[in-house]
Amino acid sequence: MNRQLSRTDNLIHQFDTVLRTLVPHAAQASRPSPATPEVRDEPMDDEERRHAAGLMRINHTGEVCAQALYQGQGLTAKLPEVRGQMEEAASEEIDHLAWCDERLRELGDRPSLLNPLFYAASFGIGAAAGAVGDRVSLGFVAATEEQVGRHLEEHLVRLPAGDHRSRAVLRQMAIDEAHHAQLALEAGGARFPVPVKFGMKLMSKVMTGSVYRV
Ligand SMILES: [Fe+2]
Ligand SMILES: [Fe+2]
Repeated sequence: MNRQLSRTDNLIHQFDTVLRTLVPHAAQASRPSPATPEVRDEPMDDEERRHAAGLMRINHTGEVCAQALYQGQGLTAKLPEVRGQMEEAASEEIDHLAWCDERLRELGDRPSLLNPLFYAASFGIGAAAGAVGDRVSLGFVAATEEQVGRHLEEHLVRLPAGDHRSRAVLRQMAIDEAHHAQLALEAGGARFPVPVKFGMKLMSKVMTGSVYRV
């Protein structure tokens, strides 16, 4: 009976996470956004705002993928010693998700319509990696976080010069992602060979190419 109950609980919790991730404005940040009221943008024209929104939409979808990856992995991975740490990392990803969502709204734009698709794909990848073993699963987290970090650095350069509020968000995210990558490696994550990283790069190209507009 108890086991049955905890299974149901778990299922409800999983479903709740899916909804919070995919329904716009549903994610609740536990830390305030780094784009505090004191951080002010310089005037931007329509083209610049559209470009900023395109980049922030990519970052938002990246966080949707991170959420799905952690959730899929949580379902299959054992991770006895690091489960707590991984859950903490996942909760920081919810902050990122909420901050990007908020910033998209400020820019008068919306998250990607393709998010459910990327959520499903990342969930599957996370669950598969978790089933293979903790070393692979943690390695996957590390490689993903490093890749996200590179995207963030690139976006910090590509954002319109006057967009200080998006920059404030991305800077804090970059700090957090580097920490997540380090945690996953310290917990025993495998360093991935170049071909795997190449495959991940290809996938992220598909994501960024489509989500910038859609
Ligand atoms: Fe994140
Ligand atoms: Fe992260």
